[in-house]
Amino acid sequence: MAGLLISFEGGEGSGKSTQIARIAARLRRRGVEPVTTREPGGTPLAEAVRAVLLDPGLEPSAVVEALLVEAARADLVDRVVRPALAAGRVVLCDRFVDSTLAYQGGGRGLDRATLEAWNRAATGGLTADLTLLFDVDPALGLARRAGAEPLPSGPRADGRNRLDREPVDFHRRVRACFLELAQREPGRFVVVDAAAEAGKVESLAWAAIEARLMGLGVSSLGSGSP
Ligand SMILES: Nc1ncnc2c1ncn2[C@@H]1O[C@H](COP(=O)(O)OP(=O)(O)OP(=O)(O)O)[C@@H](O)[C@H]1O
Ligand SMILES: [Mg+2]
Repeated sequence: MAGLLISFEGGEGSGKSTQIARIAARLRRRGVEPVTTREPGGTPLAEAVRAVLLDPGLEPSAVVEALLVEAARADLVDRVVRPALAAGRVVLCDRFVDSTLAYQGGGRGLDRATLEAWNRAATGGLTADLTLLFDVDPALGLARRAGAEPLPSGPRADGRNRLDREPVDFHRRVRACFLELAQREPGRFVVVDAAAEAGKVESLAWAAIEARLMGLGVSSLGSGSP
């Protein structure tokens, strides 16, 4: 089977990481060991860039922020995503190119066409086979985040990173942009209501993955119980 790239998108606290873990577990139960990764991050270089991006003490301009994200992305695609796809693996990516259009475009107001060109440069034109958009009111997502266990140290030591500090209007623009992208590319996106409880969100996400696999002519994902 050719590899499959599934991106998980959505705002802060929308449940992307929770659902990646759940979907990965479902795949394993079907006998498929996925490659899971995240953006920005997933390689030593890209994780170092991530720490810079989330550091509340640094104040990159919108352009610098976008270029840092793209640099991290290029490293991840080269070192992890393309080799995994070439080996026929299912790759689950926590954020991908649409986050750049939503955050640096919708949120920060950078030019869409420029960001799309930078995305193409970073990915070499690689696109996701399926993009799950976990859609939730930013107020709920941010509240979930605030309730999450803070890390003992690092950018989230106080439970908040640099992006969390943006006003809720910023996050509303990000959400609107994600939804517009989904409308523009209905063949790639599936919008999941992420306000539901995690088990329900997982069922919706899994149904979308199964449907998409059938559409791609992949009739089953290994064997075993769901
Ligand atoms: N459907 C849900 N209902 C209620 N709480 C949830 C749900 N999904 C996730 N959570 C909780 O909300 C918090 C944020 O979830 P998670 O970290 O998965 O979101 P995320 O989209 O990855 O966030 P981030 O943008 O910070 O990476 C966590 O504490 C998680 O346990
Ligand atoms: Mg996460």
